[in-house]
Amino acid sequence: MIDLVFMGPPGAGKGTQAQRLCAKVGVPQVSTGDMLRAERKAGTELGLKVDQIMREGGLVSDDIVISLVDKRIRENDAQKGFVLDGFPRTVPQAESLDRILQKAGRAIQHVVLLEVPDALIVERITGRRMGETTGRIYHIKYDPPPSPDRGEGGEQLLIRPDDQEEVVRRRLAEYAALTAPLVAFYGNRGLLRRVDGVGSLDQVSESIFRSIGVA
Ligand code: AP5
Repeated sequence: MIDLVFMGPPGAGKGTQAQRLCAKVGVPQVSTGDMLRAERKAGTELGLKVDQIMREGGLVSDDIVISLVDKRIRENDAQKGFVLDGFPRTVPQAESLDRILQKAGRAIQHVVLLEVPDALIVERITGRRMGETTGRIYHIKYDPPPSPDRGEGGEQLLIRPDDQEEVVRRRLAEYAALTAPLVAFYGNRGLLRRVDGVGSLDQVSESIFRSIGVA
């Protein structure tokens, strides 16, 4: 059983490294960003409600994301563990997560904090491409897809609407104001694993695996 949280600023590599860790340990990735994007794509009432907030780089209300995560981690495949990516992002979200897990007799074991300086973030995010079907994350320079607009298997590559520089700056400000306090929240409990997010994808994966004792 591994119940783990990935934290870090936008573009730090949470999604990329969550996909790698999940493939290694065989638990599902639970990404609130992906779940919200799926709602938008499906044109649900919820998707329409959050669309503008996400485009502008703001945070969706705590109630919405807490209920998505609560439902998701009750599913069968998450009973052997999960890797949360992009949640919790506020102190009330972290407190709710504690309550949800406590009721199920579970608890977070590791909070991996990927540390990347702001100066690198914009280049990472503006070069990101995402597979339309699989959600596979690429970077035009650091993790290039087979062709500029097609990923593995020929899937179409997308650029996220919130990946423009001015929106990235707003997302960084939201992170500093609302999410950074979670460093102390989890640090005080001895759960925080600080990992240098600068380096090749493989180097960062190795540091993460070492920090949580996965060989
Ligand atoms: P979300 O999708 O969670 O976005 P984010 O947290 O801003 O993070 P990103 O997905 O941008 O970056 P990442 O850290 O996953 O980096 P990645 O691996 O892609 O949320 C989007 C929006 O949804 C939010 O703004 C908000 O509106 C809403 N939302 C979601 N969760 C919410 C919540 N809990 N509460 C409220 N609202 C919520 O990597 C980035 C790029 O860098 C890629 O191109 C990758 O290939 C490249 N890269 C990765 N690692 C390296 C490396 N080591 N070297 C070079 N390049 C690298």
